[in-house]
Amino acid sequence: MEAVRGVSDSGDGTAADALIADVDSIRTVEWQDGTVVMIDQRRLPLEEVYLHCRSWQEVADAICTMAIRGAPALGVAAGMGMALAARAALCDSAGEPGRFRDAVQAASKGLFETRPTAYNLPWALKEMERIWARDDITPAEIVGTMEQRALEIYEDDLASCRAIGEYGADLIQGERPVILTHCNAGALATAGYGTALGVIRSVHARNPRLHVLADETRPLLQGARLTAWELTREGISTELITDNMAGYFMSRGAITHVVVGADRITANGDVANKIGTYSVSVLARENGIPFFVAAPFSTVDRSLADGSVIPIEERDPSEVTGFGDVNWAPSGVQVRNPAFDVTPARNVTAIITDRGVAFPPYEESLRRLEGS
Ligand code: MRU
Repeated sequence: MEAVRGVSDSGDGTAADALIADVDSIRTVEWQDGTVVMIDQRRLPLEEVYLHCRSWQEVADAICTMAIRGAPALGVAAGMGMALAARAALCDSAGEPGRFRDAVQAASKGLFETRPTAYNLPWALKEMERIWARDDITPAEIVGTMEQRALEIYEDDLASCRAIGEYGADLIQGERPVILTHCNAGALATAGYGTALGVIRSVHARNPRLHVLADETRPLLQGARLTAWELTREGISTELITDNMAGYFMSRGAITHVVVGADRITANGDVANKIGTYSVSVLARENGIPFFVAAPFSTVDRSLADGSVIPIEERDPSEVTGFGDVNWAPSGVQVRNPAFDVTPARNVTAIITDRGVAFPPYEESLRRLEGS
């Protein structure tokens, strides 16, 4: 996998200069003629470096190590990874359908096993399986159709985020709204524009007095590194806080709305999202603050009745005992590191999707939107 230093709008490729830039200049993940190019999110905001993945295994590695992350972006990357797998399988199998299908199936399994919680990833793999499982077209035709579908998933996600932004902006009223967000559900977590940050961008376009509080989001600091980077470079008024400050600001009336993204939403409206989201939802409920979840419909898994059965990823202890090269915990200490938690539907004021806004009871409203 080749890493290439990018050139930012400032010309020197660093993010230190707080320039005002447009969201469209954030290139999260792209298909460039047989290569999946993605910004390496592990290195943001200090360096803008692009990875060039030329095999599905390199895409899988980028997902596991979180060079790319965020539920919709994982779906897009998985789709493109499968398109790479199909190209390679066509070559390796010399066009023999059985061997071609076995190789593509192995890639699908490999990508499926990268990260378990975000539903967009298996959703995208299923979309691709509908193509590679066909026996009425040749392997060469399957390759072309899979590439086309991967690009559609990308384009659809961009359009979904714009729609989510507009639906969400209708819900955020007030002269000077102050929105708290957790983790990064921005352009970097999607094909572009973002879900929670899509709502924030759309509100800001209507009301520049909007202010945002960004939770830093331990342990991997997606809020501090990514959300703060996205919003400040666009000139959206933002303050960074540590996770444990949210209750303080809520209790003082300094937060008017919470907007977060989602990794998986079950039939009853329970929401898996970045660890810490549940705590924020409890604080919001205690303080009477509306708690909105923004996600495309590809995050909704109506095959699961409720959040208790969502697979929750546990990550490496080193993410909790330190960061980068710094270690602050005693060696040998036992660690727990669940990457996500589940916010019960009762704490969610509304779910903002690309198909419209779902209100409680979610069983009914999500079913209605799925059929729309
Ligand atoms: O572990 P991550 O960084 O992939 O977790 C990301 C989140 O939890 C996001 O809030 C979620 O995927 C929604 S992104 C639009």
